[in-house]
Amino acid sequence: METEDDWYDAELMTQRAFWNKHHLGCDEHYLVHKIRHHEDYLPELSRIAVKNGQVVGCIMYTKSRIVDGEDTHGIITFGPLCVEPKWQGYGVGEMLLRETMSLAANKGYKGIVIFGEPDYYPGIGFKTCDNFNITTSDGRNFDAFMAIELAEGSLKGIKGKFHYSEVFDNLPKEEVEEFNKRFPKLQKLKFPGQWD
Ligand SMILES: CC(C)(COP(=O)(O)OP(=O)(O)OC[C@H]1O[C@@H](n2cnc3c(N)ncnc32)[C@H](O)[C@@H]1OP(=O)(O)O)[C@@H](O)C(=O)NCCC(=O)NCCS
Repeated sequence: METEDDWYDAELMTQRAFWNKHHLGCDEHYLVHKIRHHEDYLPELSRIAVKNGQVVGCIMYTKSRIVDGEDTHGIITFGPLCVEPKWQGYGVGEMLLRETMSLAANKGYKGIVIFGEPDYYPGIGFKTCDNFNITTSDGRNFDAFMAIELAEGSLKGIKGKFHYSEVFDNLPKEEVEEFNKRFPKLQKLKFPGQWD
């Protein structure tokens, strides 16, 4: 589990892992910072990976919901999940996932719903949400929208629209820029494959 002494290192590592990956720069390190103080944060499931005293990985969990008319089912979501660039591909991401999925299963959570890399998570057992009759809040399904059951059949009977925590929606650019001043300056660069 993360302690306050790890906060800066986990944010710095997250910034390095996501920098220029999907956009110019990134905001995931600020998201990590915001999640910790949000009511939907689940610290009991969230973990960091540490090697030789350095934070090399991080996974953060939050509460989310599946809404089916009058019925609301509590569910969980993780993100950011990331690994220090030079340690990627050595199984740290998978270790963080398997450890925390087992913690969540033991605490009785039924399933995890995420937006994530469609090529990475199926290897861990995630399936697209159309397999579970779960859609996004605006009724869509696509490859990056995935879920996993935490016990056999545990998502049976749960269907509806997925709503993630509001903490993901509130990352104004100016706040991210201000937050970036806490870390060594990194250059924003445009690469093919970025979303915008
Ligand atoms: C995605 C990420 C968390 C995976 O962690 P990791 O420790 O590097 O991954 P692991 O070592 O556990 O797994 C490695 C396997 O996943 C594959 N993999 C890693 N990242 C991948 C990606 N983005 N897309 C597809 N496959 C990926 C590797 O090719 C490898 O496959 P193999 O076992 O068949 O060789 C990490 O690479 C990372 O932090 N990436 C940048 C941030 C990010 O994109 N986070 C996820 C957002 S949804």
